[in-house]
Amino acid sequence: MSKSNNQPLPVLAILGGTGKEGPGLAMRWASTGYPVIIGSRLTEKAERTAAELNEKLGIDSIQGLENGAAARAAEICVLTVVHTAHKSAVEGLREDLQGKILVDATARVDFRDPKPPTPPSAARMAQDKLGPGVRVVAALQNVPAHILKRNLEGRLDSAVLVCADDVEAAERVMELIEAGGMRAYFAGDLDNAVVVEGLTSILISLNKHYGVKTASIGVTGL
Ligand SMILES: NC(=O)c1ccc[n+]([C@@H]2O[C@H](COP(=O)([O-])OP(=O)(O)OC[C@H]3O[C@@H](n4cnc5c(N)ncnc54)[C@H](OP(=O)(O)O)[C@@H]3O)[C@@H](O)[C@H]2O)c1
Repeated sequence: MSKSNNQPLPVLAILGGTGKEGPGLAMRWASTGYPVIIGSRLTEKAERTAAELNEKLGIDSIQGLENGAAARAAEICVLTVVHTAHKSAVEGLREDLQGKILVDATARVDFRDPKPPTPPSAARMAQDKLGPGVRVVAALQNVPAHILKRNLEGRLDSAVLVCADDVEAAERVMELIEAGGMRAYFAGDLDNAVVVEGLTSILISLNKHYGVKTASIGVTGL
């Protein structure tokens, strides 16, 4: 349960972690020893999802709490509420998130009619609403929910572009992403994250055209 330098692993809260994207992330991190809390608007729903994930992994460390309580109990929070609830969720959790790193996984793209969203990025909007007491990091917008749940112990063939104004916060999140079996690349500040959100529109279009569900991002030349 600790890093090699004997620092305890940070507590993670997956806010809106009861849907499609959150549980796969929770399982990947919990299975490598991170303390993970599933957040929901409803405590019972969070507890139910946590119990299901614990059962799948054969552990009992994943907790379920209401989103605000989950955020307060964590050091790093990951926002995976449905994209249409992004604004209201950020506003509602403003006080609970102070002092935290917030990983914003939001891609404002409609699966049925994929189009790139317009600036500013969801993560930039979150940073503006939350203020300087929260360090927002945009990441994971291009990692499909169903691949996260596969091969939990293995590496995923998926590059994760990480955008943040605060490079130290980005590095903490990149470490987390690597621990979850993905490759993380620093990709500029929060304004760049709108392009990363837009890549989700490209990936959905590739999947539809080629009849697959596995299109992913790769980075070469570094
Ligand atoms: N699905 C993917 O493959 C994928 C991939 C990459 C990134 N993402 C991003 O991850 C985020 C979550 O996607 P998802 O597919 O997991 O979404 P989802 O399953 O549709 O919903 C996630 C959770 O959002 C919460 N929620 C719903 N309405 C809400 C509201 N009005 N206020 C607050 N919370 C609300 C629900 O939790 P409770 O009812 O428990 O509160 C729900 O379980 C999105 O921003 C999406 O762009 C998704």
